Amino acid sequence: MVKIAASILNADFGNLASEIKRAERAGVNLIHLDIMDGHFVPNLTIGPQVVESIRSYTTLPFEAHLMVTDPDKYFSAFVKAGSNLVLFHIETAPQPVELLKKIKETGARAGLVLNPETPIETLFPYLEECDQILVMSVHPGFGGQRFIDSSLKKISSLKAQRKNLGLKFQIEVDGGINQKTAQECRKAGSDILVAGTYLFRAKDIKRAVASLLKKQG
Ligand code: DX5
Ligand code: ZN
Repeated sequence: MVKIAASILNADFGNLASEIKRAERAGVNLIHLDIMDGHFVPNLTIGPQVVESIRSYTTLPFEAHLMVTDPDKYFSAFVKAGSNLVLFHIETAPQPVELLKKIKETGARAGLVLNPETPIETLFPYLEECDQILVMSVHPGFGGQRFIDSSLKKISSLKAQRKNLGLKFQIEVDGGINQKTAQECRKAGSDILVAGTYLFRAKDIKRAVASLLKKQG
């Protein structure tokens, strides 16, 4: 069964705790926290303190999507704050395996993220060490962008590589997910869909969550 991760980036930050509870009641499986440092991406969002302050409002797993220049410096603070999974960008990690291992030593799960312009083959040497792979289907930094279609090929080649290597990592896609692109990503082999604007700006968030899992048309 495909899982839905709610990205809070376009939620109402003035009522973050109630937005998270709203997403939980609507049936999402995970909360996706977009952590941005204003260097790796041209936007600045939340730090570990905010994560800690919302942790007690839900029992849903937190996945921290680190869009930061130095993930090695920050991952442990996000684990301590309550993140169950830490995802960092291959574009920011000269020694990805070392950092994946360090994250897993804390008891959290670990995964790699790649930008739309980064070839999927870049990740192949590290897949063995990953619990999850996040394919960016928008350029990171903002919610509400259009889905980049070339992401679908990355999903299907990840799925093939996972089979070839006999691995079990989860395949996740992030950015521009709506009913149409969700169906395309599911077909290509996605296990987890990250949705932000489509959920938090929907008239009926429960219907919006359900629509991501339904065949369109
Ligand atoms: C963008 C973030 C995504 C984004 C998804 O840098 O990583 O998680 O918030 O939001 P939507 O679903 O609005 O594209
Ligand atoms: Zn994200």
